[in-house]
Amino acid sequence: MGEARHFLPDLVGNDPKAAARRDFLATEMAQDHEGILARLSFLRSACRDVALFGDLIFADPDAFMAQSETFSLFNYHLARDLSEGAIEATRPWVAYVSNLTRTEAPFLVPLITVAEGAQVLEPGGNSGVFARALIDTFHPLQYVVMDLPAVCALGRDRGAVPGLSFVAADMRKGDWRTAAGFAPDVILFKSVLHDWPEAEAGNLLTEALRALAPGGQIVIAERTAFRGMTGGTSMDYANLVFAAFYRDPDLYQAMLQRLAPDLAVTVSRTVIDTEWFVLTARRTS
Ligand SMILES: C[S@@+](CC[C@H](N)C(=O)[O-])C[C@H]1O[C@@H](n2cnc3c(N)ncnc32)[C@H](O)[C@@H]1O
Repeated sequence: MGEARHFLPDLVGNDPKAAARRDFLATEMAQDHEGILARLSFLRSACRDVALFGDLIFADPDAFMAQSETFSLFNYHLARDLSEGAIEATRPWVAYVSNLTRTEAPFLVPLITVAEGAQVLEPGGNSGVFARALIDTFHPLQYVVMDLPAVCALGRDRGAVPGLSFVAADMRKGDWRTAAGFAPDVILFKSVLHDWPEAEAGNLLTEALRALAPGGQIVIAERTAFRGMTGGTSMDYANLVFAAFYRDPDLYQAMLQRLAPDLAVTVSRTVIDTEWFVLTARRTS
């Protein structure tokens, strides 16, 4: 509570709103204790990074990343093996993004359609929180999360679900059909492409198009380009530290249509902690 009251507005007081907020926090703590603590810790680091180095966020993103606590947490390199050290270094940021996805899935899943019996590949699908939400709603035949080895291990630890499997692979290398074991009807990138410079994001989309089954769809779910601290919660600080990397959907749409002019693209929008979009690009041939 001591930590949470720094970040959650209206948590203290005798009014019904404060009581509802405390109930919400208690439920979240009961269901995802590790995730809530990871979120609070991340927010503390984000506030620190903004206070100390905020002027570098847009002026010199590389210098900001080099000095920030938040970027040192997301060390993908350490997730590349299954040693105890790798798992322990990976655990806090996996807990953080998994907790965010718990919040985001109820807003994003309704903007996505997966045919019953479809085969889904989610590169960068992390511990499978979004996969589990999509499986509950759409009952795909198979759902493969492709992620780094330590991340997949933490995802498997969250329990088995029929149809869900984890494949440890570097998504920048190799053939996704072989990695998945099928030609995916859906390839989903949730909060993944903003991690990569445009050229590398383009390479990932190229591989996705190569792997996709005929008539299949690529789905991209991301925060839109940063337009200020508009959310009014402490998540504004978490979003500010990544602000230089978020992009509007037009950019992904243009990239995709350059790669495959036959795609039928639709974009839906929603507001969670800030503005989000879900772009769906369906092969028409
Ligand atoms: C920003 S996180 C998003 C995770 C998840 N999709 C979500 O929305 O919470 C990016 C994900 O990409 C994964 N990743 C990064 N580099 C990767 C690589 N080379 N190959 C496979 N996965 C990678 C990370 O481990 C992480 O799970």
